[in-house]
Amino acid sequence: MASETDTSAGGGEKPPTCLTRRDFLLSGSGAATTIMLASLPGFARAQEPLALRVAAYPRKRLGRISRLQLNQPVEFHYPYEHAHCRSFIVKLGVPAGAGVGPEQDVVAFNALCTHQGGLLSGMYLQEGAFRLAGPCPIHLSTFDLTRHGLIVAGHATQSLPQVLLETDGDAVYATGMMGLVYGFSSNLPRDWKEGG
Ligand code: FES
Repeated sequence: MASETDTSAGGGEKPPTCLTRRDFLLSGSGAATTIMLASLPGFARAQEPLALRVAAYPRKRLGRISRLQLNQPVEFHYPYEHAHCRSFIVKLGVPAGAGVGPEQDVVAFNALCTHQGGLLSGMYLQEGAFRLAGPCPIHLSTFDLTRHGLIVAGHATQSLPQVLLETDGDAVYATGMMGLVYGFSSNLPRDWKEGG
């Protein structure tokens, strides 16, 4: 898991800390990652370094890869228990963007349509090589689950938010999200704390 960025050590000039994109976006440790901005253009005259705090997503165990049945979505809530956080994990049987598991075909998504929140639970569609969520029962938007939830039809203009997965042996974990959950201004409450 991503480790907390150490910004506390003092004394002497230090080379800039290198962060991977994953380190930047995610931290499953329960602590927020802190990025120092003092050296960026526009911040040079800052009297005190500014810090950007990035939300830490929970690391949630979803189950075992080997227990998933082909094309049978399983529901869960992520990143926390809330009606808008209804999500599903599914083994597609074809490789997918950000897919995990031996065939890289296990993916997970939020289950609310990005147009007006239509519920996509039970709207999994397998057609040849296509693996889709939809059509949405409200205005028929349809999302491609092999390509990060890309909108392929309907009124929605944003992809279905993808739940990022990691594996540890046969165990699969939700560790973050790509995209904004419908109805939220942030995927985590401002005062959210893991386990709180
Ligand atoms: S709410 Fe899903 S297409 Fe409008």
